[in-house]
Amino acid sequence: MSDAKKQILVADDEPNLRRVLSAQLTRDGYDVIAVEDGQAALEALENHHVDVVISDLRMPRVDGITLLKRVVVSHPDVPVILITAHGTVDTAVEALKLGAFDYVTKPFEQSEFRNVVHKAARTRELIEHEVSAAPTSEPGRYRIIGQSGPMLDVYQVIERVADTPSTVLLTGESGTGKELIARALHENSSRRDKPFIRVNCAAIPRDLIESELFGYEKGAFTGAVTSKPGRFELAHEGTLFLDEIGEIPVNMQVKLLRAIQEQEFERVGGIKTIRVSVRLVAATNRDLAEEIQAGRFREDLYYRLNVVQVRLPPLRERRSDIPLLVDHFVRRFRERLKKNVVGVSEPALERLLAHPWPGNIRELENVIERCLLFTDGTHILVEDLPDEVRAGASRAERAEPAAREPAGGGEGAEGTGLKEAVRQAAVRVERELIVKALEQTGGNVTHTARLLKISRKSLQTKMKELGLRED
Ligand SMILES: Nc1ncnc2c1ncn2[C@@H]1O[C@H](COP(=O)(O)OP(=O)(O)OP(=O)(O)O)[C@@H](O)[C@H]1O
Ligand SMILES: [Mg+2]
Repeated sequence: MSDAKKQILVADDEPNLRRVLSAQLTRDGYDVIAVEDGQAALEALENHHVDVVISDLRMPRVDGITLLKRVVVSHPDVPVILITAHGTVDTAVEALKLGAFDYVTKPFEQSEFRNVVHKAARTRELIEHEVSAAPTSEPGRYRIIGQSGPMLDVYQVIERVADTPSTVLLTGESGTGKELIARALHENSSRRDKPFIRVNCAAIPRDLIESELFGYEKGAFTGAVTSKPGRFELAHEGTLFLDEIGEIPVNMQVKLLRAIQEQEFERVGGIKTIRVSVRLVAATNRDLAEEIQAGRFREDLYYRLNVVQVRLPPLRERRSDIPLLVDHFVRRFRERLKKNVVGVSEPALERLLAHPWPGNIRELENVIERCLLFTDGTHILVEDLPDEVRAGASRAERAEPAAREPAGGGEGAEGTGLKEAVRQAAVRVERELIVKALEQTGGNVTHTARLLKISRKSLQTKMKELGLRED
């Protein structure tokens, strides 16, 4: 922990409670600014460095919930703790959904209060640390956003294991940030100046995987006109990230196991044993236990990889991070797309909070990018959101927590109807997006394709399919 005293802003309209809280926090080693309502708190936030906000719910002028909403937007990495009276638990839960760090109920249980404040201060420190540790050449490239409980657990593991030689297995659904964490592990280790080599095991043809990993000697097979080092060699003294490890064919798994265990191997067609020092990080969105059961994954390899496991929580299990992530992506795309968007309207944020996010952070990232692409205002509004997000809370609450394939069998006429409806909606959205993009570029196909991040050729094909082009 850093030595500087943490600054805590306390907002409460009861002078007595302000005094008691200030005294206790000061005793616990914090600096305290105490103000009498939300309006004064907002002013204090503008004029002072604040690490944590503790606020009462009911206050004159600006109340606790309004204060929270403002802080989430203007100071997204300052944790807010709300003080609630008994019987206002609903409001408290509402507050968590809006991005509050936590709440405490009056009358206080001293140790509970102390714990919550300590955790909030610590979170703030971790986030600040991340910000300043980000490489300056590419600001924010390895920035991990999130201060929810599950993410704090992830940070703790990273802190503890980053600078060790231990193998780390990252698990989690698609789009939860496995690659981001793999890079963070490397960046936070003493190997950071050495290579970080990623191998996407799913993308390499089965018969090429051995030579990709271990390299080959000249003449090892037809086409091997020179010898070439593999990824293990390239990663020497650095980190080797085996992404989608669940896709490695069983016959390769034995060789991989030996390479990991002994840190030695031979190139394909070679006789010399090559020794390396490689830190291994692996990731999968498959259930490896299931893969072992099915005979597709070797148990010994699993145990070798699974020294430290980090499970990345799906976004729906840490909704309180959504406002932070939204803010992060708005900033990123605002610059990239040269827009004036500064935030999200409250109703739009509510929809974003309610959506189940089957594609996790990647889906959120794409949604924000699309919103920015097509808005000219300063705020993302409900009508800027894609249909599936706009549909809002009622539908989201009913949705399955995980985005699973529809179960086979029980899929009658209704199932087909849904699929067709989704297909039609997709076509509608696609058409709408392309038309807007064309308008924006004055009909220039090349620019439009770039804007939509698709090739010129596929844009032309799509325009034809959608009847946006005569020929
Ligand atoms: N905590 C986070 N803060 C900021 N950005 C994040 C965070 N987690 C993920 N992202 C972003 O979301 C996108 C998806 O993350 P990433 O590629 O790491 O996911 P993944 O788990 O590897 O997914 P997949 O299994 O589909 O490969 C990336 O653009 C990444 O930068
Ligand atoms: Mg990935």
